[in-house]
Amino acid sequence: MSASIIDGKKIAAGLREDMKARLSARPLEDRPGLAVVLAGDDPASAVYVRQKEKACLEIGINSFMHRLSGDTGHDELLALIDRLNLSDEVHGILVQLPLPEGIDAKRIVSAILPEKDVDGFHPVNIGKLWSGESAVVPCTPKGIMTLIDSTGIELKGLEAVVVGRSNIVGKPAAAMLLARHCTVTVCHSRTKDLAGVVRRGDIVVAAVGRPNFVTGDMIKPGAVVIDVGINRAGGRLIGDVEFESASQKAAFITPVPGGVGPMTIASLMQNTLRLAGL
Ligand code: GUN
Repeated sequence: MSASIIDGKKIAAGLREDMKARLSARPLEDRPGLAVVLAGDDPASAVYVRQKEKACLEIGINSFMHRLSGDTGHDELLALIDRLNLSDEVHGILVQLPLPEGIDAKRIVSAILPEKDVDGFHPVNIGKLWSGESAVVPCTPKGIMTLIDSTGIELKGLEAVVVGRSNIVGKPAAAMLLARHCTVTVCHSRTKDLAGVVRRGDIVVAAVGRPNFVTGDMIKPGAVVIDVGINRAGGRLIGDVEFESASQKAAFITPVPGGVGPMTIASLMQNTLRLAGL
């Protein structure tokens, strides 16, 4: 058996098209606004932020970029967030992570008004997600759910195994799968018999940041496999899932690149529209 490929690039493009069409009917001064704060010169962050800016431009979201030097302090960052919190033009605020060394990211993210927290990283929004209240949810797991739903499978009662327990992906993905009535297991580097646990998964979300970590022998036949890994090796991108072997077992699988990656930004745009009340 060979898995169907879940084409994240195409699904994300469709979502962007749809949002663009919805916004094109609105006057420019009535468009959603997204503020992005980038402090320091982390090269990967610079690429992500440019991609976010480009997507805003394409869709018709006003983007407000704030590029700050790596030696920006807490006071300056907090003052900027205060201004953005008060601005009527700004509906969503995103502080690109990681922040430079010495900056307390939790303190900065907590200063964003929960109603403008487009990443869903504010403690209030994390609490809402885990208690089943409607909230803006983190972009990568939101994109993961869109990809899983694109397969048409009924999630209720399925075993979902999330490999990785980060605050940005693993934990919120687990909360979202739980909200959809999956039986959820979160694995991590200390998990005993990780292969045995992953083998139970009707849905496997691999977000460990280790190339080819999940191999085909760990995949239950017919599973949906979502690969969140973006590992750079020799100028290539390699996922957390060994695609060749896993695609022989799975019913559906995401490629890297072209799976989860493009969905993160499409989900960010969706969150921005939602915070703007659209
Ligand atoms: N760094 C890596 N992923 C993300 C993300 O989803 N949001 C923010 N703000 N920073 C990130």
